[in-house]
Amino acid sequence: MNINQNYKNLTESYLFSTIAKKVNEFTSLNSGVKVIKLGIGDVTLPLCKSVIDAMHNAVDEMSKVETFKGYGPEQGYDFLKNSIQNYYSKRNVVIEPDEIFISDGAKSDLGNILDIFDRANTVLIPDPVYPVYVDTNIMDGRKIIFIDANEENDFLPMPDFSLECDIIYICSPNNPTGAVYNRTQLSKWVEYAIKNEALILFDSAYESFVSETDLPRSIYEIENAKKCALEFCSFSKMAGFTGTRCGYTVIPKDLNFGGLNLNKMWLRRQTTKFNGVSYIVQSGANAVFSEIGQQQIKENLNYYKRNARIISDTLDTLNIKYTGGKNSPYIWLKCPNNLNSWEFFDLLLNKIGVVGTPGEGFGKNGKNYFRLTSFNTLENTKEAMERFYDLFVLK
Ligand code: MLT
Repeated sequence: MNINQNYKNLTESYLFSTIAKKVNEFTSLNSGVKVIKLGIGDVTLPLCKSVIDAMHNAVDEMSKVETFKGYGPEQGYDFLKNSIQNYYSKRNVVIEPDEIFISDGAKSDLGNILDIFDRANTVLIPDPVYPVYVDTNIMDGRKIIFIDANEENDFLPMPDFSLECDIIYICSPNNPTGAVYNRTQLSKWVEYAIKNEALILFDSAYESFVSETDLPRSIYEIENAKKCALEFCSFSKMAGFTGTRCGYTVIPKDLNFGGLNLNKMWLRRQTTKFNGVSYIVQSGANAVFSEIGQQQIKENLNYYKRNARIISDTLDTLNIKYTGGKNSPYIWLKCPNNLNSWEFFDLLLNKIGVVGTPGEGFGKNGKNYFRLTSFNTLENTKEAMERFYDLFVLK
């Protein structure tokens, strides 16, 4: 019996599990301290009313023989795919319903999609990055080339046309840096992918945080992107579904590599290995796209955006450099006093009971950076930043 030896090449535990362990140790020794978590990007506001109403209705439907649902289509119900199609069409992006696959979230799809790619492919990944892209490729033993995202390129690395690769990961608005590519920059990536006959895996999980209207929220807003890109999105951050679980992946129908069609391969993969997202959850997700649903999620998004402003205003006052916050729930700051990111993590936890995410957990370029999220409550965000201010103002 041979096991997958590639697992030996992974770090011991997933970043957020390591952080949770450290926080648990701290709280067990300091039970009197109110710990405020601005670490993992987990939402705090409840699901909006339209989503809850739709899910209640769906539960009622499940209780009657006439409306009860058994297995649904593995790739998602038409009603939800049509709503997503319509959502894209508002930004003049044409996506067919059978190019959309509903899943339980972007993380699963980003990992599972690798099933349809050869393990000999070379993967291009920015550093720092959402660790899932790296770990899932290490598990498969793929060769990874890292490209630097740093202060010099405003954390938005551009393609090096002399570099060859097969799969390219882009996340914009970016996790962890909050930086967002503009149209010209994304067009360069599309041009590079087409020239290389490579495929872009575009993670748009944070698109709903884009406030500046001229910034692209989908790779398909860029000409020719349907010839070289898949898009992964999620209801987690858009509508507070981190615990409810729903997302979707777009695979254009005309994408063929090595004589095989990616859309058909993914359909084959999903129908074999996945039985779809529950009707109740898909009904809730669908309500997000109603007029009232859109208004309600906007209120929640604005709430988090206000938190982001509180964080960035504090950093401005303290003269601490950062990116993100404006079009993203993440604020990526340079650790003050030349601390490295784990030292800074320990300092914040031990001195002020505030939890963030050490930049090093996202790659070597994060060594002196730290990520804060705007997903906690207004009160907690204010309190955390007051404590933060007091800690650094006199230093
Ligand atoms: C994060 O904190 O980076 C995200 O919550 C992780 C995720 O969405 O899986």
